[in-house]
Amino acid sequence: MKAILIGFMGSGKTTIGKLLAEKLNLPHVDLDDQITAAAGIAITDIFSQHGENYFRQLEHEVLLNAISQEGILSTGGGTPTQSENLTALKKAEIPVILLEAAADTILERVSGDIERPLVNSLDRDGLTSLKEKRQPKYQACADLTIKTDGSSPEKIVTQILNYLNRQTD
Ligand code: S3P
Repeated sequence: MKAILIGFMGSGKTTIGKLLAEKLNLPHVDLDDQITAAAGIAITDIFSQHGENYFRQLEHEVLLNAISQEGILSTGGGTPTQSENLTALKKAEIPVILLEAAADTILERVSGDIERPLVNSLDRDGLTSLKEKRQPKYQACADLTIKTDGSSPEKIVTQILNYLNRQTD
């Protein structure tokens, strides 16, 4: 991978990942899509039929496989919160970009999304406190943090490209 995007649900990892990959002429790999393909069922069904622990195990296996592929990786919001994933992300020495957005922005974007099991099971306060709890883990593996509120995908991708170019200078 050339870069890995992390951040809470609704922070824009997939949108930005796709655009970044397009600009770099690289494949875009979405971890949630790979998990869905590996399980053969939707993420909400993995949670409801097998539970979150099973999902996390699958997520870990799929992450290890994805890290060695070519492209830009958009992770799931919970990926860096598992210590073994955090270790794998750090060990890979691939630039990790954290996309940040205010809790209100995030809640606005994800509310009512039936494809996100945690959105279905938590209320606004629950999601806000989950976001706060995860923040230190996100920061522990981020090489670059970008605040996305009030920005545009083009601007965010330019910031990332500038950062990646500086790394290769
Ligand atoms: C999760 C986020 C989701 C998906 C799963 C669990 C989480 O990905 O991996 O529903 O724990 O925050 P997105 O961040 O792409 O919504």
